[in-house]
Amino acid sequence: MTDSKTALVTGASRGIGAAIALGLAQRGYDVALNGLPNQDHNLSQVATDIRALGQRAEVYHADVSNHTQVNSMAAAILHDFAKIDAIVNNAGILIAGAVDGLPEDAWDSVMDVNAKGSFMVIQSFLPAMKARNYGRIVNIASIGGKHGAPEQAHYSASKAAVMGFSRVLAQEVGPMGITVNCVCPGIILTEMGRVNLEDPQVRNAWQEKTALARIGDPEDVVGPVAFFASDESAFVTGQTLNVDGGIVFS
Ligand SMILES: NC(=O)c1ccc[n+]([C@@H]2O[C@H](COP(=O)([O-])OP(=O)(O)OC[C@H]3O[C@@H](n4cnc5c(N)ncnc54)[C@H](O)[C@@H]3O)[C@@H](O)[C@H]2O)c1
Repeated sequence: MTDSKTALVTGASRGIGAAIALGLAQRGYDVALNGLPNQDHNLSQVATDIRALGQRAEVYHADVSNHTQVNSMAAAILHDFAKIDAIVNNAGILIAGAVDGLPEDAWDSVMDVNAKGSFMVIQSFLPAMKARNYGRIVNIASIGGKHGAPEQAHYSASKAAVMGFSRVLAQEVGPMGITVNCVCPGIILTEMGRVNLEDPQVRNAWQEKTALARIGDPEDVVGPVAFFASDESAFVTGQTLNVDGGIVFS
């Protein structure tokens, strides 16, 4: 029997999610890796890397915007690991488009994955967390939800929704020993981040705007997430932390 803590990381196939999953495993967590079926190859690789560290890793295919799939995933994880200590809602999408002319389905998709997906994953695990009087919920929002950039109004709205939801949930579940916090990455070099970074001029402009004068790596996000997932943050809840090298100062 292991006394490892168990964490779920959604969207764990690549980028920030894969870095968080590996970072939590390095800190002694067993990890449930969520992702889409078309990411199976990457998910299996992350699982292999975690097992090489001596921790348990299992892959669960589920679209976080699909209620039935989310509930089946939660049941399977609780069956396999017997408990859940931490949830990291990382799965997200960005579809660029200015407000005038933004297709309704682009708005819906971004809200469904980024905002509703986090809500449904959390809801599916709350009974198990409440039963143990313990839980750590970390939602990956974005500095985009605080000030944002052109062609990302719907993305910004989805991340602001995550932050508002988290502040209220923190008040609802605090008495049951469950904390809820948000991490707001800045400009991070991932598949998604490339949308902001493809044009060298745009990339340089972001770099100049950043106090630490560099673009972030997925690994830069891991420490703050691990803090909120751990007992080091036991008296911190309902907070949002910018992890952006110094772009947004609030
Ligand atoms: N990269 C950045 O600059 C940046 C900045 C701020 C916030 N973020 C946030 O960080 C998180 C990770 O982004 P990333 O940069 O690593 O992007 P990414 O595109 O590399 O990874 C996103 C992950 O989410 C998964 N995913 C997408 N839709 C899903 C769904 N419906 N169900 C399950 N999984 C799904 C993808 O398969 C992938 O594994 C996202 O929530 C994103 O909004 C990223």
